[in-house]
Amino acid sequence: MENLRALIDKYKIEIAAEAISNVAEAEAFRIKYLGTKGLVKTIMGEMRNVIPENKKEAGQLLNEFKIFAEEKFSSFNNNSSFENASVSAGIDLTLPGTALPLGTRHPISIIQNKIVSIFNKLGFAVAEGPEIEDDFHNFTALNLPEDHPARDMQDTFYLNEEPAWLLRTHTSSVQIREMQKGKLPLRIICPGRVYRNETISARAHCFFNQVEGLYIAENVSFADLKQTLYFFVKEMFGEDIKVRFRPSYFPFTEPSAEMDISCLICGGEGCSVCKKTGWVEILGCGMVHPKVLENCGIDSNKYTGFAFGMGIERITMLSYQIKDLRLFSENDIRFLKQFETAL
Ligand code: DAH
Repeated sequence: MENLRALIDKYKIEIAAEAISNVAEAEAFRIKYLGTKGLVKTIMGEMRNVIPENKKEAGQLLNEFKIFAEEKFSSFNNNSSFENASVSAGIDLTLPGTALPLGTRHPISIIQNKIVSIFNKLGFAVAEGPEIEDDFHNFTALNLPEDHPARDMQDTFYLNEEPAWLLRTHTSSVQIREMQKGKLPLRIICPGRVYRNETISARAHCFFNQVEGLYIAENVSFADLKQTLYFFVKEMFGEDIKVRFRPSYFPFTEPSAEMDISCLICGGEGCSVCKKTGWVEILGCGMVHPKVLENCGIDSNKYTGFAFGMGIERITMLSYQIKDLRLFSENDIRFLKQFETAL
């Protein structure tokens, strides 16, 4: 025991004097003292020579010694730090980093966010639905009769014939899903991607984005619809914008209308974008057809509502004076980086 104690004291002094100030010295220390052939392991082997009565005391001594060596080692690892380690590895942490290029938001996203935030101010909540729809939500519930031309194979991408699954042709399908939930009053906008089997050109694409709006409560009138849309266009395009409503037809609304705004490109003078009329159509709207309400289990004697739907690409093209729809999906970085990132 005497010998063992003396030996341990000697090594403790030696260990205390070891300098560990960089990674290489730490590694040398580890090998010398803590490795498989290190001093701690070797001295542990001394246990063999200790007589049974002293085993307990010797075990404690050796254990303490082991901890002493380990602590010396880990104190370097804990405090030293990264900085020491990096200096010895030849890295200068004071150098400026390599800047990663920051992306910008897609113009469609910028405009969609803006539309959503305008309707949020009026208390409309965002609702979303699936892009793969069934015939009921996309057509039947919206009062589109079986023989309606919009069901034609030329317009709709069908995924399955029986039961009919398709890529939704408009976000009006989300109206149906929300009304079916049965929670009234309902005030929602539904942004999302829609699909139509169209030949791709500067003015048409097989996929694009829409925002649908829906407000159902007691005593909702056409005047409410007009005020809501007036508010929207003034926020979107500024106070000077002119608006007009034209009677129209949609199976899911009665009466129905389309809304035009004064052309932003020529200011109403007449140009190629407005086809020399001074006006551009931006949305369809109307009072929700009583049949649509009933299809969703809503009492049409008690509740009324309005709905509207607009194409986000159209609004984006007018806002930024973009002339070709295809630019939105070509992913050309020279085009994409021109738009601001914030709203
Ligand atoms: N769903 C129509 C479309 O895709 C747009 C639309 C028109 C939506 C009138 C409506 C509406 O909610 O009332 O062209």
